[in-house]
Amino acid sequence: MRPGVLAVGVQDRISKFFDNLMPLPDGTSYNSYLVQGSDATALIDTVDPRFADELLGNLSGIEKIDFIIANHAEQDHTGALPKVLERYPSAIIVCNEKCKHALQKELFLSDEKFKIIKDKEVLYLGGKSLQFMFAPWVHWPETMFTYLIEDSILFTCDLFGAHLASDKLWVESSEEVLLPAKRYYAQIMMPFAKLVHKYTLEVRELKPSIIAPSHGPMYGSPEIVLSWHELWTSVHLEKRVVIAYVSMHGSTRRMAEHLVWKLKEQGVDAQGFDVMETDIGDITMALLNCATLVVASPAYLGGLHPSIAHFLFLINGFRPNIQFVGYISSHGWEKECGFDQVEATLTHIKPKYLNPIFIEGYPGEGEFHAIDGLVEDIKGKHHHI
Ligand code: FEO
Repeated sequence: MRPGVLAVGVQDRISKFFDNLMPLPDGTSYNSYLVQGSDATALIDTVDPRFADELLGNLSGIEKIDFIIANHAEQDHTGALPKVLERYPSAIIVCNEKCKHALQKELFLSDEKFKIIKDKEVLYLGGKSLQFMFAPWVHWPETMFTYLIEDSILFTCDLFGAHLASDKLWVESSEEVLLPAKRYYAQIMMPFAKLVHKYTLEVRELKPSIIAPSHGPMYGSPEIVLSWHELWTSVHLEKRVVIAYVSMHGSTRRMAEHLVWKLKEQGVDAQGFDVMETDIGDITMALLNCATLVVASPAYLGGLHPSIAHFLFLINGFRPNIQFVGYISSHGWEKECGFDQVEATLTHIKPKYLNPIFIEGYPGEGEFHAIDGLVEDIKGKHHHI
């Protein structure tokens, strides 16, 4: 990377899901960095415990590590700590008080293994100085950045990460990392968008030469990733509609497809997603800066189809900045249902609701007319944003 600074992390091309939830079509990485000063050596973050031996392999030839910086306590960056400490028993973990608490709860490490630092404190390694910058809630309460002053490298751990396993150390073209970075942001950082926005502006003020996250490649041109995050966290809304649906016997699909077609016919940007067949990451990315979501569900035991309920639960957690939500439901023997569950689920998003549409059986002319009315309603709402 730079004289005295080495990337020693690992690529994960094995895991199918992150957090056993989010698909990883491009894999991910757990980056770890070694900073060698004239007086001391520091390892910045470790890796997921499943890759601990690979990390130790990358550290072969390194005889002494004095400090292990823990920017974030989550196990994908600290799970390898016990094995690293076995190899380097005199190493001291450098972190903040909250991180120490979390690590002790997870790894049962003794007090003497820690050096607790304060915000803006500097650790001198001899010609290499590490400044710690607390950045709570991107995305845990203890998260912080480490800034290598002499080389102007900002190690941001999760922030500005991308779910991408790659043999390339650096972002060479923004095209290849845009979607992995967007996927990462939408599913990890979007719930904390306001703080991400604040830190993005602060990092821009700092003007680091390099941003080195702990997932995905590094940015030798930080403006690439800063401008993406500025856009994704902005209040700017695009007059787009995402339609997420599940269908059991074709009625709901037919209505969702008609809605997509009619919106497009009317010049409104619209994307339909069959929740059963779509990677949740793709839908979550589509919801970034999107003005309107319409969910369409068949009635199932008197309520939402469970897969739509699951989808709504997830996106309520991810907190996209959706302004309007519509609901279309198809039922057979059941009565009109599910809308109250939609309202009860989207408690964090708190959108304005469009008039729900309920149909019995397969949609006919009257139902399509109702959906055309929903299109007019959406156009009217978009006119004012
Ligand atoms: Fe990559 Fe929050 O851990």
